Amino acid sequence: MCYNANDMKKNDYKLPNLKDAQKRTKQQVKIEKELFEVPVEVKNLGVDRKFYLRTYGCQANERDGETIAGILEQLHFTQVDTPEEADFILLNTCAVRKNAEDKVLGELGSLKRLKQTNPDLIMGMCGCMAQGEEIVDIILKKYPHVDLVFGTHNIHRLPKLLYQAMMNKERTIEVFSQEGEVIENLPVKRFGTHKAWVNIMYGCDKFCTYCIVPYTRGKERSRTMEDVLAEIQTLIDEGFKEVTLLGQNVNSYGKDLGIDGGFARLLEEVAKTGIQRIRFTTSHPWDFSDAMIDVIAAYDNIMPFIHLPVQSGDSDMLKIMGRRYTIEEYRTLFDKLASKIKNVAFSTDIIVGFPNETEEQFQRTLDIVEYCQFDNAFTFIYSPREGTPAAKMQDNVPMEVKQDRLNRLMERTNHYARLKNEAWKGKTCKVLVDGPSKKNKDVYSGYTEQQKLVNFTTDQKIKAGDIVDVEITDAKTWSLNGKQV
Ligand code: SAH
Ligand code: SF4
Ligand code: F3S
Repeated sequence: MCYNANDMKKNDYKLPNLKDAQKRTKQQVKIEKELFEVPVEVKNLGVDRKFYLRTYGCQANERDGETIAGILEQLHFTQVDTPEEADFILLNTCAVRKNAEDKVLGELGSLKRLKQTNPDLIMGMCGCMAQGEEIVDIILKKYPHVDLVFGTHNIHRLPKLLYQAMMNKERTIEVFSQEGEVIENLPVKRFGTHKAWVNIMYGCDKFCTYCIVPYTRGKERSRTMEDVLAEIQTLIDEGFKEVTLLGQNVNSYGKDLGIDGGFARLLEEVAKTGIQRIRFTTSHPWDFSDAMIDVIAAYDNIMPFIHLPVQSGDSDMLKIMGRRYTIEEYRTLFDKLASKIKNVAFSTDIIVGFPNETEEQFQRTLDIVEYCQFDNAFTFIYSPREGTPAAKMQDNVPMEVKQDRLNRLMERTNHYARLKNEAWKGKTCKVLVDGPSKKNKDVYSGYTEQQKLVNFTTDQKIKAGDIVDVEITDAKTWSLNGKQV
């Protein structure tokens, strides 16, 4: 890639490189307890300045958003809710499908107007899109009002990078393509009051052929058990009721550190802390161990809800997708989980229109939906991602066919979502209260153990973070109605 020579001299850009991002070394990653630092000159950068942060994409990105907000507040920035009020606007982006990227490019375009009223405004982009060669190229050439771009491996460098963009008025682009250390001393501003995200590992080594995540997030690297458990203890002390353990594939937890027992052991240790609710995401069907199932079944504070992405119902397709299981193996695992974990609910992810997908193959996807009757399904049209193996295949299923398959699939997945919800009518479930509902202050909302949204009435004094018994009176496709008992 080549940019304006003057630009290159003035600014020492570090640009993303997908080939480097693909490389994996056996070398163990260092755990850094002191790497994050704020240079003296940057310490008060945010005094009288405001920042607006918008995060797209998955929970890993949400959690990164909390780190970014934590860093900015350490520099004395104040967070605001609208971009119009801000001195620093940052979009924390997702690259998983093209429409995710288009949304951000559209937003960057529309925010440009704010630079006219506030020439000192700093506009930044970070997250997974920043790891893409093509996108950063587009930003450099067509979005001159974007002052700062940094990657998912550069978050700890934000104080220095922002100083450079803000005080030196230099366009600043720094994207490391290979992961660095696991950094343990980053600040965090939790956005929730009773539910928290906890990273247990970073990156992904699965390389499903359609997926950009292993390139944007680097190789799999686990946090130590001690560090994870210490974070959870702090959350308990602060009054948090629920933690969601995060990893692109939590089943691989600890393999890189040689931790005996891996995720099953970590999960059990987390359960023993006594925190009221434990969730985890995502678990890949490929290495979901029996030991994990036994632990989930044994502890009441591990929630009976499993996100088990199937992607396709056809074994040949799964092979080309690089998923490493057949549909028969998926079904066997599903049955085992359903029989061993009491009242378990399932959600899944499904892609339609992968290159060469035939109608018969798509029918098998409908078959697995009929078989599993998922409580919830996230359904996507295949989107080619630059640098992935699938992007080299011809994207040859016509858009009308993809759309038609998506519609037919959603008709079935919505049907089962509703059916599964109907089954709760008349039953009483435990709900972790989020607070009064946004639409109606007299109605409260919260989630059941099975991760179902419940809107309910009450004549008692309750608050966010309470766990209450709610009798379900009505079921919709995406939520339940009820009254507290
Ligand atoms: N680590 C998680 C998934 C992260 S991406 C896991 O393995 O389950 C979330 C979902 O986005 C994937 O499960 C897949 O269904 C979908 N997805 C990923 N890449 C995609 C692409 N190129 N086109 C369409 N959907 C995609
Ligand atoms: Fe992507 Fe597959 Fe890794 Fe999930 S497991 S993040 S779908 S490569
Ligand atoms: Fe998107 Fe990156 Fe997550 S691509 S799905 S934000 S890991």
